[in-house]
Amino acid sequence: MLKYIIKGGKKLEGTVKISGSKNASLPIIAATILNTGKTTLYNVPNIHDTQIMFQILEILGGKVEKKNNKVIIDTSKINKYEIPENLMREMRSSVILAGSLIGKYKNATFSYPGGCDIGTRPIDLHLKGFEKLGVKITKNYGNITCTCDKIVGQKIELDFPSVGTTENIILASVFAEGITEINNAAREPEIIDLQNFLNRMGAKVEGAGSNQITIQGVKQLKDVSYNIMPDRIEAGTFLCGTAITGGNTRLEGINPKHLTPAIAKLEEAGCKIETGKSYIEINAPKKIKSLELKTMPYPGFPTDLQSVFIALLTIAKGTSLVIENIFESRYKFVPELIRMGAKITVEGRTAIIKGTRKLYGTNVKATDLRGGAAMIIAGLSAKGKTEVENIEYILRGYENFDKKLRDLGADIRLIKI
Ligand code: UD1
Repeated sequence: MLKYIIKGGKKLEGTVKISGSKNASLPIIAATILNTGKTTLYNVPNIHDTQIMFQILEILGGKVEKKNNKVIIDTSKINKYEIPENLMREMRSSVILAGSLIGKYKNATFSYPGGCDIGTRPIDLHLKGFEKLGVKITKNYGNITCTCDKIVGQKIELDFPSVGTTENIILASVFAEGITEINNAAREPEIIDLQNFLNRMGAKVEGAGSNQITIQGVKQLKDVSYNIMPDRIEAGTFLCGTAITGGNTRLEGINPKHLTPAIAKLEEAGCKIETGKSYIEINAPKKIKSLELKTMPYPGFPTDLQSVFIALLTIAKGTSLVIENIFESRYKFVPELIRMGAKITVEGRTAIIKGTRKLYGTNVKATDLRGGAAMIIAGLSAKGKTEVENIEYILRGYENFDKKLRDLGADIRLIKI
């Protein structure tokens, strides 16, 4: 068991290099199954979730060679199509392997996925999408088997622009007969990264970043090298850490366009922000101003930054209002912030945050990945010592989190208990 110990009150100052994106890496690693050969990926974050993905690939017959953030994946000997239940439960994104296995082998067995407890997180849209492509789905005691003779391109209307569903349908359609058209597709930058990667391998995917994506089936793919995009959620977390400590930092290796709504909200809160092609500089004000924000599918404000913004708003001047529109129970971390002196009321999808002068360090728990990051952000500014337990959640998605924070001047240690 591990925990973080933070002594609050140190301003974040200096330069931090943002890691490769977790949410882009996971579908791209899954997509390597489509290529019967070797794929080289750069800028892959060394985090728990990518390690789980590699474990699953190895169980399916793949080979994974890792050197720092470079990974060579050989999928030429994949000969199993069943994702083990224990690993499926570890991480929701494992469901994304289904699209690749169906696309390549017309065969996938998996169970209902696990992951962060932030809502019911059904996979009905994924399964409806597969069915539309001609996949036969059988459910047996929690196991789901998908089989078909061939995938035939179709028009698919999504009831909601689900990120994972959009990615799964793209992956399943890469070798389809004819053209697949996804309407009301999710528009997240990570889907553009998946499209760019697939096209580099020889696939024909168009439209990612808009709400209509078309995939024209191809016969085969080729070996490629690919550099994963930067992690906009990690970047947003560092921006909030800087803002809450009254600091001044420069984030490098990032595409500021991916953070437009978060930057707009930080400016509204009084932060001075300068952006270049691949950097963001933030200079925090003496006092953060309160905000109103609601989470929306991209290009709206990202649900994954909701919790770190709430942590920031606990010390704002005035009362803030946050509405969570994506996941119905994404406020499980709020009682932990309240233990630190935050004044927050949650009613359904709305959180009302009354700004207080200071938070106070105490013992808290990470309740999920981003809720855990919110505890760290709060601890950075709190008076005294904050101990954060259950940090396995945080390690799922942040690479070298404590080291990067220490390099910016924070007093944070990772200890074994
Ligand atoms: C991805 C991200 C996650 C982010 C989320 C929303 C990855 C690995 N994870 O998750 O960090 O918070 O997008 O931006 O990229 N839904 C259904 N049925 C389905 C699928 C989804 O009802 O079959 C609902 C979900 O319960 C949720 C909403 O759609 O309320 C959005 O989910 P979705 O966009 O699919 O999120 P993920 O792909 O799981």
